[in-house]
Amino acid sequence: MKHAITTVTSGSTRRSIRAGRDGTILSLSTTPTAADELKSRVRKFWEDEPCGSVHGEAPEGTREYFDQIEQRRYELEPFIPEYARFQDAAGKTVLEIGVGLGTDFVQFARAGAKVSGIDLTEHGVQLVRTRLELEGLEGDVRVGDAESLPFEDRSFEKVYSWGVLHHTPRTEKAVAEALRVLAPGGDLCVMLYSRHSWLTYKVWVRHGLLAGHPGRSLSSVLAAHVESEGTRGFTKAELRKMFRGLDDLTIEKVATPYDRHFLGPVAGLSGRWLGWFSVIRGRKPT
Ligand SMILES: C[S@@+](CC[C@H](N)C(=O)[O-])C[C@H]1O[C@@H](n2cnc3c(N)ncnc32)[C@H](O)[C@@H]1O
Repeated sequence: MKHAITTVTSGSTRRSIRAGRDGTILSLSTTPTAADELKSRVRKFWEDEPCGSVHGEAPEGTREYFDQIEQRRYELEPFIPEYARFQDAAGKTVLEIGVGLGTDFVQFARAGAKVSGIDLTEHGVQLVRTRLELEGLEGDVRVGDAESLPFEDRSFEKVYSWGVLHHTPRTEKAVAEALRVLAPGGDLCVMLYSRHSWLTYKVWVRHGLLAGHPGRSLSSVLAAHVESEGTRGFTKAELRKMFRGLDDLTIEKVATPYDRHFLGPVAGLSGRWLGWFSVIRGRKPT
């Protein structure tokens, strides 16, 4: 006897439902989609080497370890505080999506914000909990997925995410989630990689042009050769579309030391057009 098989894709999961003639469900199987499988590899990559951990020479999880990572982070990216505006968050409810080792997260907590944070990895979350404890700070840090945030609509006065959402396969969904949990009047600050940047061109020269594949796209070299598999970079037009609906929307490209490795000071001068970081800021309409 033949049974009807229906395939339903809900969120990130594909389910096959085998039903009898009278509609009774005989079996239900769940097959991970390609995006789920990619996300598992992204998780594994960051579990194995939490972001910035290369700068911690002291034993992992010690105060000295976190201090070394913090010092190096703001040497390399001194512009972060200007965009993150840690001090303005005092007394506010703040969500950080993709806390990594929590260096920015603790700045919000030290400034007196009521902080919540998520990361895809157990490793990062455990280390951030240790870090809060070492400093006697309060915060809710959990393993979670940016594509499906475990929070109610309009829960946070500020949503912050630095260098994270281009790593998740469904960036657009993650951005929609960030906007969903932001309270009306709340501030959003997100950094995503730029598709057109000196760093991208450097990666393309190495893995496209010099590897004998000049036809290879910028997106393809980013996905295959920058950090975890599947990394994406966005144009300003794509970002404007993703973040449309925010008031006072600004998208600024920022030259980074990673661009300067390729082009020296010229990269700094042309950072407005070809910087690797695109910083998106805006306010949710009331
Ligand atoms: C480049 S690190 C950035 C971490 C931190 N924001 C920083 O600037 O140091 C990327 C982080 O994004 C996290 N991540 C990737 N995909 C995610 C997802 N779908 N949900 C939550 N976190 C994710 C990774 O686990 C990793 O900690």
